Amino acid sequence: MYLRFMSSSQKIIITIDGWSSCGKSTLAKQLAKELGYIYIDSGAMYRAITLYFLRNHVDWTNIKAVKEALTGINIEFIFNPKSESSETHLNGENVEYVIRDLVVAEKVSEVAAIKEVREFAVKQQKALGKNKGIVMDGRDIGTVVFPNAELKIFMTADNAVRVERRFKELYEKNPNITIDEIKTNLEMRDYIDSHREVSPLRQAKDALVLDNSQLTMKQQLDIAMKWVRERTRAIPSPFG
Ligand code: DC
Repeated sequence: MYLRFMSSSQKIIITIDGWSSCGKSTLAKQLAKELGYIYIDSGAMYRAITLYFLRNHVDWTNIKAVKEALTGINIEFIFNPKSESSETHLNGENVEYVIRDLVVAEKVSEVAAIKEVREFAVKQQKALGKNKGIVMDGRDIGTVVFPNAELKIFMTADNAVRVERRFKELYEKNPNITIDEIKTNLEMRDYIDSHREVSPLRQAKDALVLDNSQLTMKQQLDIAMKWVRERTRAIPSPFG
């Protein structure tokens, strides 16, 4: 346990951006646990919106239909003590697992590229960070959502490592899934996420890069915690 008893006035905002499946959420959860912070998976919001659009046959090429559909969406993150993590709820239903399906993954980048969808999600993300003490991961968290965050991490990992990690994760749920399907999906999402017009994936100028291709979970946490300590030392103590 590192800084769990840090005074609330010293709490910071930590952003983790990067490519799909390079371990952003794993690190974000580790940090949130160590620090007693809230963890928010911003990608889960885009996935929940995509799920809603798919279930309700919303034509997301029609902006009027998108705007109307968004008025019917309520996303909440509710802490589950069993999984020790906050889980995504869409209009009162726990969708934490179903939003990870490949059916959603295949469409989410398209949906996340829509300006109105991003405005809807970013507004809620900003509100979640108003008391600090938060770790949020995504694609535009350090650049758009919290441009003044105290610690910005940009994560990356070798492509082969990322594909293998995602394969292991999805294979447990669906043994019919193939490496090729995963590889194609990751490449497509990375392309759309980094080439879209509205807030594309970019490394913030002041972000610290963490390549975890060869790191264990403990090693990546140690590096990130060192950065946290450096950043929190820079914040003046309220006790002088
Ligand atoms: O992190 P993830 O794979 O669950 O994200 C799902 C998709 O949502 C991803 O393809 C890009 C998009 N996304 C985004 O555009 N902006 C964010 N802040 C987070 C995710």
